[in-house]
Amino acid sequence: MKVLEKINENVGQITPYQPGRPIEDVARELGLDPDGIIKLASNESALGVAPSAVEVIKNFAEEAYRYPDGGAYALRQKICQKYNIAEDEVIFGSGSNEILVFLAMTLMGEGKSVVASEKAFVIYKILSKMTGTNFIEVPMKGLTHDLDAMAAAITPETSIVFICNPNNPTGTMVSEAEIDAFMDKVPEDVLVVFDEAYAEICLGDMPDTMKFFRKGRACLVLRTFSKAYGLAGLRVGYGIGPAAIVQALEKPRQPFNTTLIGQLAAAAALDDDAFINDSVETYKAGRELIENFCKQKGLTFERSYANFMLIKTGNGKDVTAALTKESVIVRPMAPYGLDEWIRVSFGKSEENQRFIEALEKVLS
Ligand SMILES: Cc1ncc(COP(=O)(O)O)c(C=O)c1O
Repeated sequence: MKVLEKINENVGQITPYQPGRPIEDVARELGLDPDGIIKLASNESALGVAPSAVEVIKNFAEEAYRYPDGGAYALRQKICQKYNIAEDEVIFGSGSNEILVFLAMTLMGEGKSVVASEKAFVIYKILSKMTGTNFIEVPMKGLTHDLDAMAAAITPETSIVFICNPNNPTGTMVSEAEIDAFMDKVPEDVLVVFDEAYAEICLGDMPDTMKFFRKGRACLVLRTFSKAYGLAGLRVGYGIGPAAIVQALEKPRQPFNTTLIGQLAAAAALDDDAFINDSVETYKAGRELIENFCKQKGLTFERSYANFMLIKTGNGKDVTAALTKESVIVRPMAPYGLDEWIRVSFGKSEENQRFIEALEKVLS
């Protein structure tokens, strides 16, 4: 079609993000029973939806005809109270992913550069390429962000540095002391984005990064309801930062970007500490079970501080395909240059057990 010649060149060259495969999709392709398939591929909540949000979601049907409140008033109040911030210091997105899009529209483009770690969340790279931004990929120390090298990679053209902590897909963390030292080196004209999608269920000491914004530094802390609160399907994320930054990011935001049901469920889930505690215990147990299995089998793995981990299985693509045939969906890590690795999300104990049995079978 002739019009294809007019597609923006940067967009045309993008390889789209490859999400974890939906259960129904795998069931259709392989003729499997969807009820027998487990998905440990998208770092979703192992315990499902936060119970405090379930009733709200069930009772929503009669309200669906209304547009949502574009300002997300009730949810905004709750977030402001929880973090002791002002109303104009938070922005909501259709998942934190949409806030990354706002960042791309606001601070990326020809003549600018973005600094990120080589094996960090791939969306930073996709958005940079899509907007013609020079994407500076900094090698990791092992599978952890090398903050010294990242600070050194900043150029006068750099508009954003992304710190993904804990990092998806490696599960590794940088400490508060490392971040403090890094922040001392970052020039004032660079926005530091702390992508903290796993903060609430972090299995290590989660650094306090909001302190930088409170001190007036140019930074944005991204959080999501998708992971810890089990609301991935309702798409609500948020960013906290100085009012001037939030105001700039609000410009590309479309009026009804978060749904009414998403806002209601998120507001109900936000204080569900009991659910978060149960989730953390579940992830710790999952990590222990799978790490022990790896040790027994002599498989290399990376210690993770989130609800997933990387395992070096040899040919991750083939192992993922073989596991899928065993009705266990995980993620191959080739898109991150880790051809020999897979990423598995921690599930309920019976799911983790099924994963290790399937992996044992596939590897023998
Ligand atoms: C590090 C990181 N950031 C952002 C996201 C986007 O999550 P959501 O758009 O569901 O909030 C993800 C999802 O996998 C992630 O792992």
